[in-house]
Amino acid sequence: MKQMDGTDVTACERCEELVESRSRIVNGTGPADADLLFVGEAPGAQEDKQGDPFVGRSGDVLDEALRAAGLDRGDVRITNCVRCRPPDNRDPRSEELDNCRPYLEREIDLVDPELIVTLGKVPAQHLLGRDVGVTGEAGDVFDPDVAGQRRQLLVCVHPAATLYDPGQKDTFVDAIVAAAEYTDEGSGQRRLGDF
Ligand code: URA
Repeated sequence: MKQMDGTDVTACERCEELVESRSRIVNGTGPADADLLFVGEAPGAQEDKQGDPFVGRSGDVLDEALRAAGLDRGDVRITNCVRCRPPDNRDPRSEELDNCRPYLEREIDLVDPELIVTLGKVPAQHLLGRDVGVTGEAGDVFDPDVAGQRRQLLVCVHPAATLYDPGQKDTFVDAIVAAAEYTDEGSGQRRLGDF
């Protein structure tokens, strides 16, 4: 597991049900000054076991797309809206999202990324504060107010969506490549043939 940093939560009992369902709190990983901050929904089984975000099958899909964009996991920051695994991998409830929001806002403040990339519907709606059609809006950049500060945010589908529907893979990879190009990170070269 990674070194602790100022964005880590070491103890929290705000969500009664999640305190029961989690094995541990899963904090963000990656450089504290990363240009790109990926925000997912909540830890799944593997993340709960290992203690890092996106280390299961969704993480493999994300790593592959990062490589296609000339990046690797060590170049970017990865976190979630909610830091504890919900039971049976259900979506986090709105009160759980609200309880965890100060931790996410603190991480966004400290990392101060050039671009936030939301992975899936839950983080997009949480940070944009409206309904989002992630497939239609993937690759689009918005500038929501997050904790009193304008942030650049690119919408992306969840990597798991590409496992259920391989037709979403190009949409997913294109959005990650667009994110890399936006921040001038990575080679920005598309090698979809590698997929
Ligand atoms: N899905 C998420 O949204 N976050 C993770 O950390 C893993 C899977």
